[in-house]
Amino acid sequence: MEISLNGKTALIGGSSKGIGLAIAKRLAASGASITLMARDESHLANIIQELDTQSGQKHQYLVVDFSDFSSYSSIIVNYFKKQTVDILVNNTQGPRSGGALDKSLSDYQQAFDLLFKCAVYTTELALPQMQKKQWGRIINVASITVKEPLNYLVLSNSMRAALVTWAKSLATDIAADQITINNILTGYFDTERISQLNQEKAQKLSISPNEVRAAMEASVPAKRLGKPEEYANLVCFLASEQAGYITGTNIPIDGGLLRSI
Ligand SMILES: NC(=O)c1ccc[n+]([C@@H]2O[C@H](COP(=O)([O-])OP(=O)(O)OC[C@H]3O[C@@H](n4cnc5c(N)ncnc54)[C@H](OP(=O)(O)O)[C@@H]3O)[C@@H](O)[C@H]2O)c1
Repeated sequence: MEISLNGKTALIGGSSKGIGLAIAKRLAASGASITLMARDESHLANIIQELDTQSGQKHQYLVVDFSDFSSYSSIIVNYFKKQTVDILVNNTQGPRSGGALDKSLSDYQQAFDLLFKCAVYTTELALPQMQKKQWGRIINVASITVKEPLNYLVLSNSMRAALVTWAKSLATDIAADQITINNILTGYFDTERISQLNQEKAQKLSISPNEVRAAMEASVPAKRLGKPEEYANLVCFLASEQAGYITGTNIPIDGGLLRSI
């Protein structure tokens, strides 16, 4: 199936590394104009040079910090005054690890701002434009933890569950406008985030990060971590014309890891 995103614009959170970067590259390769978002400006300026421009696309970036809502909201409101967005990918860093007994209310508040508030706010800004065009694609980078919570990721478990149920509610309200919203339930992908979590776990267990990684790979039926490019292919499909009848879903991409049906 050939996917063309020519003429479409995509706003992608957390897109200077890992999963977000792979999505940006894939959507650009299919013809979309990309707006990258992350904190490190010099990194963003380099990345933008790597994006495909063969369909005459124009790419740009926003330096944002999703953990600082007042600064983020003013930047993003300004952006939407000048720019329309056809494809929105809500993605950011994962919250800090830790179990339910380790966390304070302020930890939950921070995770709420990072994983829920910014995604809802950005979506609300994008929706009027999408409704006007009667076309839009919203894709949330979530986690398999919404189906099978992991003890050491209580902030992720809680906030992502809120995000996916919000998305399901919204899907019903915007379907008639030909706007889709879907959640991707991320398994284990080979990125900096997973290396960092593995290092934390290795320290706790007094074993090496390689041993943690090997155990992680062994736990996946596919016996390996996912590649960010594989993830990006799924996002590209969900962003396409061809996926217009898929909405309100939770789609796992996890090498068979989730046991639930
Ligand atoms: N990798 C996995 O196996 C896995 C599994 C389940 C869920 N997930 C979730 O998927 C998402 C993406 O994961 P990843 O592995 O691609 O992460 P990653 O490699 O750490 O990349 C995170 C991206 O977000 C940006 N970012 C980080 N903090 C930010 C902030 N406060 N404001 C704005 N941008 C920020 C980073 O750039 P800067 O640092 O320059 O800002 C980077 O571009 C995360 O929410 C993660 O929890 C990942």
